Amino acid sequence: MAFYHPIAFENCVSINMVEKQSDPENIFIRPATLKDRDFIIEFNIAMAKETEDIDLDRCIVTEGVDCLLKDPAKGHYYVACMRKWRRSESCSSSQEEEKDVVIGQLAITFEWSDWRNSQMWWIQSVYVRMDYRRRGVFRKLFQHVQSEARRQGVGMIRLYADTGNERAHQTYESLGMSSHYKVYETENLAVE
Ligand SMILES: CC(C)(COP(=O)(O)OP(=O)(O)OC[C@H]1O[C@@H](n2cnc3c(N)ncnc32)[C@H](O)[C@@H]1OP(=O)(O)O)[C@@H](O)C(=O)NCCC(=O)NCCS
Repeated sequence: MAFYHPIAFENCVSINMVEKQSDPENIFIRPATLKDRDFIIEFNIAMAKETEDIDLDRCIVTEGVDCLLKDPAKGHYYVACMRKWRRSESCSSSQEEEKDVVIGQLAITFEWSDWRNSQMWWIQSVYVRMDYRRRGVFRKLFQHVQSEARRQGVGMIRLYADTGNERAHQTYESLGMSSHYKVYETENLAVE
């Protein structure tokens, strides 16, 4: 099924965004860059609201996302993109140009395991746009991260999820993950 988002232009020019949604081959994963920061900020805010009913402070999230994007020692993001084609038609010609739209994300942060003498990766900030769910987007993100982690000699991949987020639990378990740990944390130490 193809989706068309027509935008009318003056001078007899129109632009159509053509999305070949039925083809999972058009979803691909790449490392995020600074150009993706606005998507990542929005996705983080949406995720906190949806999963924990928390209203994140946009200024703090913006600085937090920027810090991670600019400092690879802290970690990095991967984004899932949908390949779309922008077709512009004028009276005399028709041109097609590729334009990718970010539809999902995750962040990787690090832990050193002295038990294994190896780096561990933590998956964080997992979010897939609502209108792209149950289409294998997270599966693709996860498989990409797994093969990158293997390639880089990472010992293990870990993540944590809110105890009430059953959809996330089902997703992670369906991809072969399990846990015999409970995660403990302090109160927010930054609050006086
Ligand atoms: C959890 C989330 C990332 C899953 O992303 P997704 O792209 O829809 O997942 P996928 O399509 O790759 O699903 C992979 C498998 O996970 C399982 N799964 C995914 N969503 C599920 C659901 N709603 N119910 C049951 N199982 C589900 C299925 O086994 C699925 O395989 P299948 O569709 O072939 O049956 C997405 O729902 C999301 O962004 N939720 C809001 C944010 C969030 O909860 N983040 C996690 C914080 S820890």
